[in-house]
Amino acid sequence: MGFSDTLVVVLLRAITFIYDVLTLPIYTIVQYPWRKVRECKESKAQAISHEGGITFRSTTPISKMHVELEKQGIDTMEKVFNYAVRRNGSKRCLGSRELIDEEDEVQKNGKVFKKYVLGEYLWKTYNEVDRLASGFSKGLRQMGLEPKGKICIFAETRAEWLIAAIGCFKQNITLVTLYATLGEDAVIHGLNETECEFVLTSHDLMPKFRVILENSKSVKHLIYMEDPLRKTDVSKFPENVKIHGFCDVIAAGTKSSIGGSPPSPEDVAIIMYTSGSTGAPKGVLLSQRNVSIAMMAFSDALGPVYPDDIYLGYLPLAHVLELMCESISFLSGIPIGYSTPLTMTDQSSKIKRGCKGDTSVLRPTIMASVPLILDRIYKGIQEKVGESGKIGQALFKFFYDYKLKWYYRGFNTPLVNRLIFKKLRQLIGGRVRILASGGAPLAPDTHEFIRNSLCVPLLQGYGLTETAACATISLGSDMSTGRVGAPLGCCDIRLVNWDEGNYTIKDRPFPRGEILIGGDNVALGYYKLPEATEKDFFEEDGRRWFRSGDIAEVQEDGCFKIIDRKKDLVKLQVGEYVSLGKVESELKTCPLVDNICIYGDASKQFCVALIVPAVKHLTILATKLGKSGDMTLEEMCADAGLANAVLKEIQIHGTNSKLAKFEIPGAVTLCSDTWQPDSGLVTAAFKLKRKNIQDHYQSDINRMYA
Ligand SMILES: *[C@@H]1O[C@H](CO)[C@@H](O)[C@H](O)[C@H]1NC(C)=O
Ligand SMILES: *[C@@H]1O[C@H](CO)[C@@H](O)[C@H](O)[C@H]1NC(C)=O
Ligand SMILES: *[C@@H]1O[C@H](CO)[C@@H](O)[C@H](O)[C@H]1NC(C)=O
Ligand SMILES: *[C@@H]1O[C@H](CO)[C@@H](O)[C@H](O)[C@H]1NC(C)=O
Ligand SMILES: *[C@@H]1O[C@H](CO)[C@@H](O)[C@H](O)[C@H]1NC(C)=O
Repeated sequence: MGFSDTLVVVLLRAITFIYDVLTLPIYTIVQYPWRKVRECKESKAQAISHEGGITFRSTTPISKMHVELEKQGIDTMEKVFNYAVRRNGSKRCLGSRELIDEEDEVQKNGKVFKKYVLGEYLWKTYNEVDRLASGFSKGLRQMGLEPKGKICIFAETRAEWLIAAIGCFKQNITLVTLYATLGEDAVIHGLNETECEFVLTSHDLMPKFRVILENSKSVKHLIYMEDPLRKTDVSKFPENVKIHGFCDVIAAGTKSSIGGSPPSPEDVAIIMYTSGSTGAPKGVLLSQRNVSIAMMAFSDALGPVYPDDIYLGYLPLAHVLELMCESISFLSGIPIGYSTPLTMTDQSSKIKRGCKGDTSVLRPTIMASVPLILDRIYKGIQEKVGESGKIGQALFKFFYDYKLKWYYRGFNTPLVNRLIFKKLRQLIGGRVRILASGGAPLAPDTHEFIRNSLCVPLLQGYGLTETAACATISLGSDMSTGRVGAPLGCCDIRLVNWDEGNYTIKDRPFPRGEILIGGDNVALGYYKLPEATEKDFFEEDGRRWFRSGDIAEVQEDGCFKIIDRKKDLVKLQVGEYVSLGKVESELKTCPLVDNICIYGDASKQFCVALIVPAVKHLTILATKLGKSGDMTLEEMCADAGLANAVLKEIQIHGTNSKLAKFEIPGAVTLCSDTWQPDSGLVTAAFKLKRKNIQDHYQSDINRMYA
């Protein structure tokens, strides 16, 4: 540190010391810090049985909403949505931003990008949504889709998606969901396996169907959600496929006299295709009861709802987490405003310079997220701080540590939040009070950083499509990081020994083992895959259980920490086990790393890393090493000196993140192609497909081990 920044820090220390002495008594009286510390330590689950493992059950009381829903006998999604419409009929329900125009914006380097001109959020009320949903599903019936039938939704998240889903539940039509980012082969597989005759997609994805329809003969009707600005090109599709606009289906349905055909709790509500990190995606069969039970359990974790709450919907609705979050918002009377990763913040790539991103306009209070996005926010903030000069950095660090210190003592720091962290909070609109993360393990560093600098509780959850997203969730009062909380009310969680990985329920200090999840939220099985169903699901005393393949430890307070995945474990020659996922999630927080895949050869002493570098930081590093500034990405990735420098950085980062020596890669390869779902290297949910990556980079792996 230089002289001036040291001086600033010394001064600040003096000032905050006096401030603390003066305000501590007041804060102690108004903030009840001891209560927060106690709540954090309280036990949230207990062991209820030691038969065949240790089974844990939640001790958290169920919410008022949950009690109310049970009293009303709600056991299907159709009833859930009807209940919500009865309750909040004239209130705002779904909102989307008005798309006014699209403009070309010339960048500094002469390139031209298309940018949106977006207006305010336009809202539909619950009653309107209900009407549209009824209209849509009657329209489907009119077109010949019977109550037993299926419709496949292959589209990005938007209001019409949820409207269509609600409509289908009204007519006992099974939804088949596929990620909008899935490759064509996977979509063809899904359509073929389910023999869907009806497909709902969007304007943007229509061109893909020219190819897909050539290869999937079952489809007879293709419905597209319109684009507000452009007309959809419906030419050159196979002749046997009828093409309809979403609005036309609703218009036809609204005129129809067909009645509703509500499902029973045993009917299949959704066949949800997973993103498939190993092999082809699998269709998970979720019944009406399974999904509605899961929703009630989540409402316990949500806590009180306020009249000004707003939910930001932007994750893929084909992901069970987002579908759950939106359904719960719908049920709780929380309006849902839609967004996309390309328009979310003022800096997002489709937002015109000087215009407002979705979070600035909507100012949401509740958001769901995935580690991929949180890691990005984390790196983005660090970059901003890095650019703010020595004094700026010293100031940020000082207040960051100050806030952290008081946080762990159970205090909030309102003044510092206002003065220092308000600007960061503005990144996501400034009002977020609950941020949830799921889908993959979140690195503890990212967890702490986001929670501290955005001044928001970050709830980490754990769940799988096979359990309707439900398993565990951490509460807002939890001050730890890296844990996923205690079991939700709807299911029990059992730990069993996994001898091969040397995890046992007798381990000290905490029992460890594979997670089994049992409860009403557990799916019926996989569609048309009796063997996989037999392998992963089992029945015991009338209760259905799912073997997750994830390894966890359970701490004193009944909270779980995911420490491994069966498939991700490699035993090196020295006899040490390397958890690839854990190492990746730690190293991903290194600014140089955009994406990373660790590979371990069991016959070798160390593991190696395939890294997709962050271009900006790699360029800076290249310049530092005295290399020419105009190297292309390919040239930089092929440069041995640069790869070595990256390896050093990674090793330092790994040591700082407390990775063991054998967990730190011994060699790296820089990959110049980004890993996108259509390349087959990652799933539609951006999880690594290890086998494919390994095959693709086999020569590089051989070279690293040579
Ligand atoms: C929805 O209805 C419930 C019960 O009438 C009410 O308490 C709640 O405030 C309403 N939600 C909104 C956003 O107004
Ligand atoms: C709903 O559809 C299923 C087939 O998916 C059928 O077996 C069931 O009888 C239907 N339920 C009702 C209540 O119509
Ligand atoms: C479609 O499914 C059938 C069996 O249901 C199978 O024989 C055929 O190979 C599949 N076609 C494609 C393109 O996957
Ligand atoms: C399993 O763990 C125990 C204690 O942690 C250790 O003593 C033992 O050597 C390990 N076994 C294997 C096969 O790694
Ligand atoms: C899931 O739903 C089905 C149909 O309602 C039900 O039979 C099953 O019991 C539920 N799952 C579990 C594990 O209870």
